[in-house]
Amino acid sequence: MQALIHSSDGFIIGSPTLGGHMPTQVQTALGFILAEGSKTKLAGVFGSYGWSGEAIDDIEQKLLDAGYTLGFETLRVKFTPTASDLEKCQIAANEFAQALKKLRKNRTVRPPSLVDAQVDRTEQAVNRVVGSLCVLTTLPEGCFHLTQAAAILVSSVSQASFHPPGMTVSLPQEWAESLCLVGDRFVLNILKEGSPLVRQFQQAQRLGEQQLATLGLKSAECGAPILLDALAYLECTVESRMNCGNHWLIYAVVESGELLQTSGLTAIQHRKTSS
Ligand SMILES: Cc1cc2nc3c(=O)[nH]c(=O)nc-3n(C[C@H](O)[C@H](O)[C@H](O)COP(=O)(O)O)c2cc1C
Repeated sequence: MQALIHSSDGFIIGSPTLGGHMPTQVQTALGFILAEGSKTKLAGVFGSYGWSGEAIDDIEQKLLDAGYTLGFETLRVKFTPTASDLEKCQIAANEFAQALKKLRKNRTVRPPSLVDAQVDRTEQAVNRVVGSLCVLTTLPEGCFHLTQAAAILVSSVSQASFHPPGMTVSLPQEWAESLCLVGDRFVLNILKEGSPLVRQFQQAQRLGEQQLATLGLKSAECGAPILLDALAYLECTVESRMNCGNHWLIYAVVESGELLQTSGLTAIQHRKTSS
């Protein structure tokens, strides 16, 4: 299997869910793939399930965490595939093949230069910095309903002071132009490892009103939404901001906070690229 994986440009891995897990054989195969270490290969995930389908999510998350790119949206089939499921499989296979061709073409067009190689090395090194995955929510001026909140997935979050407890968060310039100004309040929702919220936000980064309406929410004191499925949340007030390249670094003092779940670990962002 190791030799096969090594000589392939891409792979598709599938699994049923048995007793909430992937079977040992699939776990072993996935272990080989993750140990192989080359994240330039294209990956695809599919699986059958009966009611919960944890194995499919688990494989997908492990590949994403390891930095693999998926060539099609993961296929989930309940028990036996229907005609429509089979059609989706064909479409996915086609998408995968096209993506593979594109990948090959890009590889042959221009061999990486020494400068590229150094940039890659630097980027790989920068990638090793990890951050807690959080969703920052804030209610823009003139908005009063929870679903009108601005919500963004952030991972450059760090505790900056202890007395008072303060956090720094890095936010994209265009997002923070009119939000999280000095004196503004926001909620930092700390996501739980394995939570479906992680995938939902990783796909969208910023959720709109309709998507927020599908989530369990309650109002924090400042009016911004607390995500009920988060591991914990912090309510903060922005004390200062600093312009950093294409981001704003926000320093905010924690006013209050609460654990929403007593078990589970914080979701961590393992990045594919430093940019
Ligand atoms: C012993 C056993 C345990 C199972 N456990 C789960 C489970 O925890 N979650 C789930 O979604 N499906 C579960 N299933 C359903 C299987 O995932 C489903 O039957 C399988 O993916 C469909 O393929 P099959 O036609 O080979 O059964 C279980 C099935 C069996 C037989």
